[in-house]
Amino acid sequence: MIEKFTINSHPGNLGSAGISELTATLSGLEIDTHNARFHKRFILLLTILILLSSCSNDDPDPEPYTPTPYEIEIPYGFPTVLNVPADNPMTVEGIALGRILFYDGRLNGRSHPDSLMSCSTCHIHQNSFEIGASRPHPFGVTGNATHHAMLPMINLVWNMGNFGWNGSVPSIEADVLGVISDPSEFDSSPEKVVNTLKNIEGYKELFIVAFGSDEINVERISKAIAQFVRTLISSNSRFDKYMRGEVQLTPEELRGFVLFTTEEGADCFHCHGGYGNPLFTTNKFYNNGKDSVFTDAADRFAITGDPMDKGAYKATTLRNIELTGPYMHDGRFETLDEVIEFYSQHLVNTPQIDPLMHHIANGGIQLTPPEKADLMAFIKTLRDDEFLNNPVFGKPEMPE
Ligand code: HEC
Ligand code: HEC
Repeated sequence: MIEKFTINSHPGNLGSAGISELTATLSGLEIDTHNARFHKRFILLLTILILLSSCSNDDPDPEPYTPTPYEIEIPYGFPTVLNVPADNPMTVEGIALGRILFYDGRLNGRSHPDSLMSCSTCHIHQNSFEIGASRPHPFGVTGNATHHAMLPMINLVWNMGNFGWNGSVPSIEADVLGVISDPSEFDSSPEKVVNTLKNIEGYKELFIVAFGSDEINVERISKAIAQFVRTLISSNSRFDKYMRGEVQLTPEELRGFVLFTTEEGADCFHCHGGYGNPLFTTNKFYNNGKDSVFTDAADRFAITGDPMDKGAYKATTLRNIELTGPYMHDGRFETLDEVIEFYSQHLVNTPQIDPLMHHIANGGIQLTPPEKADLMAFIKTLRDDEFLNNPVFGKPEMPE
């Protein structure tokens, strides 16, 4: 009986551990081919073994799945609560895969060299992961403009779940899925994307080390990209260094800082952070007084249904803001000078305007020209050249 079913006939399917286990099991049995009970047990055992071996991997000695945990170091003064979902822990291997996918033009499921598009087509590292062109709306792969102007990718690991200008996107993972099918972005489908990546031999090994097997699916793709995006942390601007006592700001920059963070000054800090909130965003939504009528069907009101949210959008981070014009959700202001001019003189009062726009009765904060220059000097201290040039965030080598 045992001779007939030579257990070593599938050494490839049965790992060495499996074989010794089987040998041990068999030697523990009293072998009597005339014993019907043994017969039944033996056949059952063999059935289980055959089932097990047909499920197992072709690899004779598979490497155990041991990803390296990645821990985010909280920069000085930053909030300690991070938004890392429990079902997508960050690993060195996951981040490495996500970074490649982020930059791989084939991520949109196309192969013609003229039709490639990845996250990095619009989210360009040197421009604080915005497109950096002076047109408000980037174009998707089929030439459709996006509905809103762009948002940068900075410190998103501190956004607790309201991504996008109106907060409609619950997670970075969800954003990836949206980008794949959005007609003004990839205009593709999960199937197309997965099939394209499956045909690139080099991705197999990357998915194995990141997720434990070579299965490629959109869930894993979105998880890996989200892990990479969570590493994009800006904490080394001139202002950060000043807060850590490493550099001194100029008198002009310091005057601007005081204006920025005082109510009787420029009064920016309630919505855009400052001392005590180094993210330079609250990640909350406000109507900051630009219009008298609200026609955008994708404002915060579209999400909450609260009429007071008409014309409200996220107060974006002011980090690297000098690089990310044009400004506001619709890109209406070309330059930061225009933005400061707006807050100074051109506020529009409506019932929806946020109560934190304290100077609305005067039509704005009414800064003098030297004060405007001071405020601008301060805003420019939020530029983080280390972030903008960090090679770890740049384009890696692509698999073939
Ligand atoms: C065609 C250009 C384009 C491409 C390609 C693109 N994005 Fe974006 N992205 C945008 C625009 C525009 C916005 C702002 C959208 C809005 O809120 O209306 C945005 C917003 C985001 C946000 C929200 C940021 C925040 O502060 O809330 C995330 C996250 C994001 N994109 C991730 C990605 C990822 C990941 C990819 C690749 C899978 C990608 N994007 C590809 C244009 C693009
Ligand atoms: C009541 C909250 C609030 C206050 C106070 C406020 N802002 Fe804003 N800010 C916003 C919101 C909301 C947006 C986005 C609005 C939109 O896109 O339509 C914004 C947008 C901006 C932008 C453009 C961001 C981008 O990515 O395009 C800049 C720059 C800016 N604010 C600077 C300032 C400065 C400087 C001050 C102080 C003078 C200030 N803000 C005061 C809420 C506020």
